[in-house]
This record gives sequence, structure tokens and C-alpha cells, in this order.
Amino acid sequence: MYLMSYINNTPISPFYVMEILEEAQKIERKGKKIIHLEIGEPTEEVDSKILLSANKAISSKKYKYTNSLGILELRTRISKDYKKKFKINIDPDRILLTTGSSAAILLSILTATKKNDEIIIISPHYPCYPQILKILGRKIKIFNTYEKDNYQIDIDELKKSLTTKTKALIVNTPANPTGVSQSEEVLKKLCKLKIQIISDEIYQGLSIDYQVTSILKHNPNKPIVVNGFSKLYSMTGWRLGYIVLPVKMVRYAQKLQQNMFICAPTISQHAALSTFDISVNEKKKLINKYKKNRNFVLKKLKDIEIKFEYEPDSAFYIFCDMSKYTNNSLNLCKEILNKVGLALAPGIDFGKRYKKFVRISYASSYEEVKEGMNLLSKYLKKYNK
Ligand SMILES: Cc1ncc(COP(=O)(O)O)c(C=O)c1O
Repeated sequence: MYLMSYINNTPISPFYVMEILEEAQKIERKGKKIIHLEIGEPTEEVDSKILLSANKAISSKKYKYTNSLGILELRTRISKDYKKKFKINIDPDRILLTTGSSAAILLSILTATKKNDEIIIISPHYPCYPQILKILGRKIKIFNTYEKDNYQIDIDELKKSLTTKTKALIVNTPANPTGVSQSEEVLKKLCKLKIQIISDEIYQGLSIDYQVTSILKHNPNKPIVVNGFSKLYSMTGWRLGYIVLPVKMVRYAQKLQQNMFICAPTISQHAALSTFDISVNEKKKLINKYKKNRNFVLKKLKDIEIKFEYEPDSAFYIFCDMSKYTNNSLNLCKEILNKVGLALAPGIDFGKRYKKFVRISYASSYEEVKEGMNLLSKYLKKYNK
């Protein structure tokens, strides 16, 4: 069958972080404690205002299908937020609410490109981008960024790599797995390229040492922006994201949405209205927590002499070179998990060049992050000299 051979000819890699998580859960079921620094999921509780709005949506029976673009009230709040933060006008009708930002990525690629189009992925990259491109029959072109350049995109080099086949580029800023934001200069230059930019800004708002930004600041009309509520508001399981689309693409994306998803989860849409009522102080508290966690991890990495040459300014990730200890960090992660009960993400998830890297997620509590880093130190001292 066509479908069978298509899947066979397209080997989809596992999401290795999920595999480590599932392995960790197996160990936990046997009663052993595991410290989770592998998964990119804030342990923070969802704000009570959001929970209240969700309850209200249920009690007032707001749980049927919505408009395929999503409820206008939420799209208007998002639009106003862009105006407030970046002084740009985004028509609410250019915003399409999706089932997590994962669906936003899928719909963006389907909307902006055709089968066999070449799409650039900035690497190290979010694990799912190449897998989604493979599933959709798009051609992947990896463009590397380097630790010595603070993982900034070298735009001159990027220009050299563009061909007539290159139709789009996916950039993630602030980035998973590095925790680095692309500079305003880079964002500005990306907007000037003659290809479609898809900017995944799911970590927007989680800036520790860098201003909150968006590529839309530099051109509010042309880039596609992916965003959502999973990370900043700790709403991972609520499955709510969105796309900001160029006007001419809205209708096409909407038709895809109607056919593939109908609409984003209704209760989550109503609940997300309250995210805009969370005070600046609450947000500052969250950023301060991440700052404390990050600074602790950085200090500990220095103490245990893990090589490190860049500045993770945002999100809750640190990507580090473990070549001093391993040629295969997937094996290393499994061993650390089994020997000392610490779960970390293997670098292979984020690009073939990163087989010797691990990603540390400091999205948990300070106590857990501290315990996790102490376990890493213990492992390296005891088992891996
Ligand atoms: C860069 C990036 N994009 C998208 C996602 C998917 O998030 P969501 O929960 O909104 O689907 C993730 C999740 O880790 C991510 O790191």
C-alpha cells in the first residue's frame, strides 16, 4: 500500500526525551525516586485565575466547537498583547488558535510550502521539526549555529546556503535546546530574506537576561509566528497554541484547520483569556525563579568542569558538551538514569552533530534542580572518571 511504503521510506526517529521520560516512569513505578531534568515542562502550578475561567467555561456550558479560527475574544486579547508589547497591529483575524503549538507548526508548514520544497531548520533544533517535515514530504536542509557564536545565525553564511529550491526557514527563538535568543539584528535580517520565515516563539516571555521580543516587531506582516500557552503559563496539557499568519495565508490555513482539527480545545480557549490578567509581579517572580535555577546550574557545571562557552539567556534549558565523558550521550543519559536516578535529555534529539551533548531543563523547583545537579556530580565522580 502507498501509505505503508511511504511510512517505511520515511524513517521517523523517536522523540528521545520522551523515551527517557518513559524509561524514568518505569523506574518510578518500581518505587525509586527520579529527578526530572529532561522534560521541557514547567512544574509550576497553573495560575488560579486560569483554573477559575476553565471552571466557569464548564459551568456555563462553553464546551462545544468554536469558530475554526478560535474564539474572537481570545484572538482579540492576543492581538492587543502584541500591540501593548511591541506596538504592532495584528488583526485578530490573522490569528488561528491551534491544538498546542505543535499543530501550529504542522499547519504553518502545510500552509507555506508544498511537497518537495526545501525548508531550512536552524540547528541545534527542536526534535520534532525534521520529523514533521519528513512526514509531510518536505526536504530538510540543516543550517548549523555554533556555541562559539552564542548560537546566533550567521546571516551571510545563511544567504550562501539559499537556493531556488529553498522556500522556507524554521527558527526557534528563544530556543530549545540552547535557551538562547536570536539578536534583534538577526531577526531583522531574517525578515529581509526572500523566503518564508516560520518563527517558533513558544518560549516568548521566558526571557531572563534578554528583552521579550518577536520577529513581528521587525515585520508584522510577512513572517509566520508560532506561539502558545504551554510554556509561559505551564499549560502543557491544555493543548493550546496559535499562529499569526500573513493575510493571504489565513483562508488556506483555516481550511486545513477545519478539515484536520475543526478547532482548538474550547475550554482551554476560554481559560486562556485569564492569562492576560496575570500580574507583572507574578511574571517577574517566575522569571526570578528561573534565573536562580539557571545560575545554580551554570555554577555547578563550572564546578564539575563541564565545558561551556555560551550564554543561555532565556527559556529553561542549558545545552552542554559532554564529550569529556562520552561519545554517545544517549547511553550516558540511560546510565545516569539507572545509576543515580537523574533524567537528562540526550543531544541526539537536537541534531546529528550533538551526539555528545546533553540538555538540562531547569523548569522544576530550585530544590529539584539542586538535587539533580548534585546527582550529576555524584555520577561523574563515582562512575565516569
Ligand atoms: C520549540 C518548541 N516548539 C513547540 C513545542 C510544542 O509545544 P506545545 O505544547 O505548544 O505543542 C515545544 C515543546 O517542547 C518546543 O520546545
